[in-house]
Amino acid sequence: MKQLKIAPSLLAADFSRLASEIEKVEKAGADLLHVDVMDGHFVPNLTIGPIIVKAIRALSTLPLDVHLMMMDAEKYLENFAKAGSNMLTIHVEATKGKTATLLSRIKEMGLRAGLALNPGTPLSAAKEFFSKTDMILLMTVHPGFGGQKFIPDVLQKVEELRKTYAGDIEVDGGIDPQTGKLAVAKGANVLVAGTYIFRSEDPKEAIQALRQCQ
Ligand code: DX5
Ligand code: ZN
Repeated sequence: MKQLKIAPSLLAADFSRLASEIEKVEKAGADLLHVDVMDGHFVPNLTIGPIIVKAIRALSTLPLDVHLMMMDAEKYLENFAKAGSNMLTIHVEATKGKTATLLSRIKEMGLRAGLALNPGTPLSAAKEFFSKTDMILLMTVHPGFGGQKFIPDVLQKVEELRKTYAGDIEVDGGIDPQTGKLAVAKGANVLVAGTYIFRSEDPKEAIQALRQCQ
């Protein structure tokens, strides 16, 4: 079984106190920091860009797992790389006709490459790109906002993907120890959790509880 990694989503952090929020989850044993970039086009919400990623980079030594929920990702890949991202994940739905090229560009810059699929997107729509990726992100909510309810139908997709995919399988959206356990049982090995970690009284206990999913 692949090693389980816990990735707090900073979307649920208090941005007015980003330094202490990051320190809190770093001390609590997070393996990665998940950064949600939203462009107001691909998803109906706007969040952060490369300058904030750069600020986050200066605050932590943890790998930065940058989730690009955006159209026109090609215009910004270099900026996100220069800002200190370790991994860039693009969406298959947002990169039609250029998915393979963008994954190659991410790899050429020396970063890990991820490909994300929305809950309604079948694996068949992305299969041809799997060999170019280090990670597949299966969204377990419709992207755009934190704090939504886990969509259990995606579990089937996790199971199906794990049959043939040896890389990391990340799940994102509505993850807590219960839903995390279901996803890990089907083959997921990277758990993104925003609300569950940042809104808990003790983030250390929250991360430990997520580790028990394996
Ligand atoms: C949703 C984002 C998620 C989100 C997860 O579009 O991609 O990373 O922050 O938040 P929770 O854990 O609150 O569902
Ligand atoms: Zn995300």
